Amino acid sequence: MGGHWTQSAFDILTGANTGIGKETARDLSGRGARVLMLCRNLEKAEAAVQDIRAADPQARLEVHPLDLSSLASVRACAGRLLEAEERIDFLVNNAGLMVSPKSLRTEDGFDAQLGTNHLGHFLLTNLLLPLVEKAATEDFRPRWTLLRNTRISA
Ligand SMILES: NC(=O)c1ccc[n+]([C@@H]2O[C@H](COP(=O)([O-])OP(=O)(O)OC[C@H]3O[C@@H](n4cnc5c(N)ncnc54)[C@H](OP(=O)(O)O)[C@@H]3O)[C@@H](O)[C@H]2O)c1
Repeated sequence: MGGHWTQSAFDILTGANTGIGKETARDLSGRGARVLMLCRNLEKAEAAVQDIRAADPQARLEVHPLDLSSLASVRACAGRLLEAEERIDFLVNNAGLMVSPKSLRTEDGFDAQLGTNHLGHFLLTNLLLPLVEKAATEDFRPRWTLLRNTRISA
């Protein structure tokens, strides 16, 4: 199992350009994993990659665009991954809005926090499940995890 979490792992993180996501990218790539950072702000994502590589030049980090507040963006991102990748060992759904005004809506008209934190990740996870399942072996169970907070107000 150790190899899966280190050198041979392919891990995906949403919202990896700052905060907990960036530190998780630093940690996983520091263990040797290949880490794909799915971010809506590519400038911030590239800055995060440079910062991590300043301390660890070997870090295997890649950036792909994903805006979880747009179901079209989620579908496009998942479609690219399904075409390009063979498996996903660890999917970390980290991106999220902590607080958002009630009036803020996603591209599809949902409350911004519900749409980003829940619906976007729900669709992404379901579309990527075939790749997560492909990582399963007799001695390894691939995982996906959620790191987000949602306060739904009426
Ligand atoms: N920190 C805490 O104490 C705490 C407590 C409970 C739960 N959490 C949850 O843990 C997660 C990480 O927390 P954090 O403190 O690291 O938060 P953070 O610093 O605010 O980072 C949030 C990340 O989510 C991304 N994001 C927001 N909306 C997005 C969208 N529509 N599409 C793609 N990415 C989007 C942000 O990207 P941009 O840079 O583009 O905005 C950023 O990379 C969050 O889901 C949060 O709700 C945190």
